Amino acid sequence: MSKVSVVLGAFYGDEGKGRTTDYLSQNADMSIRATGGNNAGHTVTVDGVKYALHLVPSGILSNKTIGVIGNGVVIDPKVLIEEIEMLKESGIKVEENLRISEKAHVIFPYHCVLDQMLEDKREHKIGTTKRGIGPCYCDKYERSGIRMEDLYKPNFKELLKEQVDKKNELFQMNGYPLCDFDELYQNYTHYAEVLKPYVCDTINLIHDYLEQDKVVISEGAQATLLDIDFGSYPFVTSSNPTIGGILTGSGLSARDIGDVYGVIKAYSSRVGEGPYVTELLDETGDQIRELGHEYGTTTHRPRRCGWLDLVALNYAIKINGINYINMNHLDTIGKFDEFKVCCAYLVDGKETKSFSCNETFLAKAKPVYKTFKGNFGDISRCRTFEDLPQNAKDYINYIEEYTNCTIKLIGVGADRECMIVRD
Ligand code: GDP
Ligand code: IMO
Ligand code: MG
Repeated sequence: MSKVSVVLGAFYGDEGKGRTTDYLSQNADMSIRATGGNNAGHTVTVDGVKYALHLVPSGILSNKTIGVIGNGVVIDPKVLIEEIEMLKESGIKVEENLRISEKAHVIFPYHCVLDQMLEDKREHKIGTTKRGIGPCYCDKYERSGIRMEDLYKPNFKELLKEQVDKKNELFQMNGYPLCDFDELYQNYTHYAEVLKPYVCDTINLIHDYLEQDKVVISEGAQATLLDIDFGSYPFVTSSNPTIGGILTGSGLSARDIGDVYGVIKAYSSRVGEGPYVTELLDETGDQIRELGHEYGTTTHRPRRCGWLDLVALNYAIKINGINYINMNHLDTIGKFDEFKVCCAYLVDGKETKSFSCNETFLAKAKPVYKTFKGNFGDISRCRTFEDLPQNAKDYINYIEEYTNCTIKLIGVGADRECMIVRD
């Protein structure tokens, strides 16, 4: 039986999980998305062509890897169909290679209206992507959600009517636009028809692949500090993007997990509200944003930027069982003359290396930095660790020592080939 390699975000998302998964998928038979929905935006560049993916697993770009959208994902069918069309036009074999879990929950426009309404009413905004993610997961856990398989049931119309009536009542009371049931029903029966060939029992499919000793990887969405349990609640997403969510969102067992890759950038970023200890609200933060092109793939919002936080990274390693790190954007950090990394927090005058998502702790925590020398020059053609300049090696060596974890993959550019792989 083969083991699954899992790719997870270690920080607040957008670490480059998509490009990492795409890289590993060149040798994979199957690539699974297990959590989140189209709040995710994974940009992958292959031979200069940029793909922005929200729901389809990045592994599909290899054109030989089966991409599975697992039961833990929430699916906006309109967005998914648009993505499938975009990929097909680019010559990606989606029809042959995409599979969608019949158990995945479906996002309807009323979820997006509700997302907006709840956010409007919050005193402290979360800064959600307004893609209906939270409300869809709420329906799932309230046990009134509609799953992919329900779209094909004879009672789909009644199921939908019940939901639309319930939500419209709420919208009417609060002065939000009502959903037109007939239009919604017509649209969703059309989407269901288009997606029918892809919908199946993905749980058995995944296990068949493992039994046949095939190479299976899992692409995380969102990240550890956005986790509903382990993140900076309430400034989080509504799922578990950490290792547990990979299992419940796909049907994999704990025994099926092999390597766990924690993805980081050589600096850090966050979109939306919430604590961020190493955030730089000055010119340096702006410089990182411009050098790293840190604007959201999904909402195009400018990302908040700062230095890498090793205290938080060790927490992500602990929570997820990360045994390999993939560091992206080494090329970007190398454009600075000097840059910093957070190696401890100062809390109430005491230094600590222990992270906590406790709100008061994070509000008090001040970063303690170590400074590194930059000016790496053009490293985009480096393909081995030995090719890198000493300043870059010093940074990598320090992080490995601090975390006691190997940095196995190093991104030196956005393109698929701009990756250093270490044994
Ligand atoms: P994800 O959500 O974790 O998949 O990450 P995103 O795709 O949202 O954000 C990562 C961005 O960084 C994308 O635009 C990637 O093309 C880009 N990227 C990833 N790795 C590297 C790298 O090593 N160097 C550079 N310059 N860009 C990278
Ligand atoms: P990828 O997979 C960065 C953030 C939102 C917001 C919070 C809740 O590309 O790394 P939601 O719409 O999920 O209810 O929003 O979570 N968020 C992300 N930030 N990358 C993502 O995904 C994100 N998905 C959600 O900005 O702060
Ligand atoms: Mg992203």
